[in-house]
Amino acid sequence: EKVKLTAKVVSQEALTDDICSMWIQADEIAKAAKPGQFISVYTKDKSKVLPRPISLCEVDKEQGRLRIVYRVVGAGTREFSAYQAGDDIEIMGPLGNGFPLKEKKAFLIGGGIGIPPMLELAKNLNCEKQMVLGYRDVLFLNKEFEQYGKVYVATEDGSAGTKGNVIDAIKANGLEADVIYACGPTPMLRALKAYAAENGIECWLSLEEKMACGIGACLACVCKSKDIDEHSHVHNKRICKDGPVFAAEEVEL
Ligand code: FES
Repeated sequence: EKVKLTAKVVSQEALTDDICSMWIQADEIAKAAKPGQFISVYTKDKSKVLPRPISLCEVDKEQGRLRIVYRVVGAGTREFSAYQAGDDIEIMGPLGNGFPLKEKKAFLIGGGIGIPPMLELAKNLNCEKQMVLGYRDVLFLNKEFEQYGKVYVATEDGSAGTKGNVIDAIKANGLEADVIYACGPTPMLRALKAYAAENGIECWLSLEEKMACGIGACLACVCKSKDIDEHSHVHNKRICKDGPVFAAEEVEL
């Protein structure tokens, strides 16, 4: 049910020096989209054929709109950051599997640019939620999470919340949950996988950080899984095709 189409930018704003928030009118994709899924965005530079995967931060099904919150890291995302209301934007989606929605007391954990997909998940999860958001220093989106539950912040430099990482914030606040949903840099996901195993907590990880094209074309996203086929070969997974969300025990990080 994924489609490639030319959509219209509804609005764009900068949240920090290098993080932008864009709403896109894309009725067909919005209708089908689920939390944890992403779109791939094509640049207008025809020498670059591969698109950039960007996770969905919010989906407004009534108005048929998608929100992406992304960091400007190179030429492609710099181009996207210059788009304004009314501009065309070529996108494909919705892509990926998304998060399973469990009705259990939950941690929603985001690190850096892994924070945005947690917002749509928070909106859709029907259970007690605790948001744990890890930043280097400058905060973004944290206020928007407050309508869905209690928000805990960790910063590397200690300028807000707990000094340290998301696990430091969990420990400092004495938090507990029965399921973890997380998205962020690999070291954070690796630490959460270990934390979940130690504490016997169900854990779902979005490995979207490792994707480069999002459409199965670049093979940058291959990761080792625990699946072994009948010839004793390890079955590798492509994050953009088989994920980006995996049960923590399913993947090696
Ligand atoms: Fe390019 Fe998966 S991100 S093949």
